[in-house]
Amino acid sequence: MKEIIKWSKEFETGIRAFDEEHKFLVKTLNEIYNLLNEGKREEAKELLKRRVVNYAAKHFKHEEEVMEKYGYPDLERHRKTHEIFVKTVIEKLLPKIEEGSDEDFRSALSFLVGWLTMHIAKPDNKYGVWFREKGIVIDDEPVKID
Ligand SMILES: [Fe+2]
Ligand SMILES: [Fe+2]
Repeated sequence: MKEIIKWSKEFETGIRAFDEEHKFLVKTLNEIYNLLNEGKREEAKELLKRRVVNYAAKHFKHEEEVMEKYGYPDLERHRKTHEIFVKTVIEKLLPKIEEGSDEDFRSALSFLVGWLTMHIAKPDNKYGVWFREKGIVIDDEPVKID
């Protein structure tokens, strides 16, 4: 399987549940990439809707709940970032994938890869550092896949 995004040590937040959820998102983007390369556009589309859009929403909610529970100071800004992403995906990316060409699908996938990489490596990493410094251990289970 070819990888459009590779898991890296930089992505680790140190919180097991969130690392597992992030790994699942990374793996899904790679699966979509491979389906597209095989010309299986419909399957790629289904995977994107079911596993990226739905799962990301669950993952974001999970992060926000944990941040809220422990009074993470940057929660509101982080929440806003999640909201903008979901809105962009639903309003811009999905219609483009639905009606557009393979090229449009690929550019939507690049956007997802870029956003996820940046988000995990920056703001998600930041909460990882904060929880670590506070000595707070989160022993949640990763959110389930439908
Ligand atoms: Fe995250
Ligand atoms: Fe996040």
